[in-house]
Amino acid sequence: MQKDFLSIRDLSVYEFGQMLDKAAEVKKHPAKYRRALKGKILAMIFQKPSLRTRMTFETGMLRLGGEAIYLAPSDISLGSREGAFDIGKNLERWVDGIMIRTFGHQIAVDLAAAARIPVINALTDLSHPCQAMADFLTLREHKGALSTLKLTYVGDGNNVCHSLMLAAARGGTRMAVATPPGYEPKAEVVAAARQDGRDTGFELTLTSSPEEAVAGADAVYTDVWASMGQESEKEARARIFAPYQVNAKLMAQAKPGALFLHCLPAHRGDEVTDEVIDAPYSVVYDEAENRLHAQKAILIALMGDKD
Ligand code: CP
Ligand code: NVA
Repeated sequence: MQKDFLSIRDLSVYEFGQMLDKAAEVKKHPAKYRRALKGKILAMIFQKPSLRTRMTFETGMLRLGGEAIYLAPSDISLGSREGAFDIGKNLERWVDGIMIRTFGHQIAVDLAAAARIPVINALTDLSHPCQAMADFLTLREHKGALSTLKLTYVGDGNNVCHSLMLAAARGGTRMAVATPPGYEPKAEVVAAARQDGRDTGFELTLTSSPEEAVAGADAVYTDVWASMGQESEKEARARIFAPYQVNAKLMAQAKPGALFLHCLPAHRGDEVTDEVIDAPYSVVYDEAENRLHAQKAILIALMGDKD
């Protein structure tokens, strides 16, 4: 394992499968891991709001026998009061790991380069790898072997979409991404996913047609149209993304029994309708639960005593 978990790319195809297996094991036998991180402390840097990420990292550390310290945006004022390098050089003297949710991905990279302790990406503008681990755990639980599945993402080609593509490349999962023109996932992430997935069975289709993308899908995923930091674009985006709403009509064009996924928080009535997110085929709260199990596996791998 690499020192840090900043991207799905930090896991080899083999490690990706192993990490999902470990998450499933931790989920099944939580008591076995009650002392896995005894005495260990995680510093959690948040420059954006959070429910799931904060709760699952903090409860995850507590349930593994360790502790977590929450650093709110105003606590350390990353970037204005102090830069990532000095923050990393300080934190490494006191704690055993750092989790960071921030804007520019380079901030997380700089922090990881400065600190000798593990750094975990808990969302940047570029990616959200912990979310993708939880999502692929959820997919596997509900639909079986990842290499037999097609996952369709509809909406903004954003951080969540990027990490899903890189995870699909490792899982050998076919993927279709439907975005409005101009909101496609970044070309370098598309190229990286195709490169990483060339021997796994991964295939990627990019389209502007949600109907085309959902055909044959075992699961349909969407995310908010305006991410944290894009609040000023909310209204313009609402108009552009309106044809990309995941509603019952669109779900009916996926494979019978297809799942609905969303990282949450959801803007009900925008990117997804109530009838879809509250449907029996929606697994959004399983994904939220699995954030805990997937991250426990990541925390153990990075911060556990090496034997
Ligand atoms: N899905 C997710 O990361 O949720 P939060 O923003 O609430 O942490
Ligand atoms: N794309 C969203 C994900 C939130 C979990 C954002 O960055 O705000």
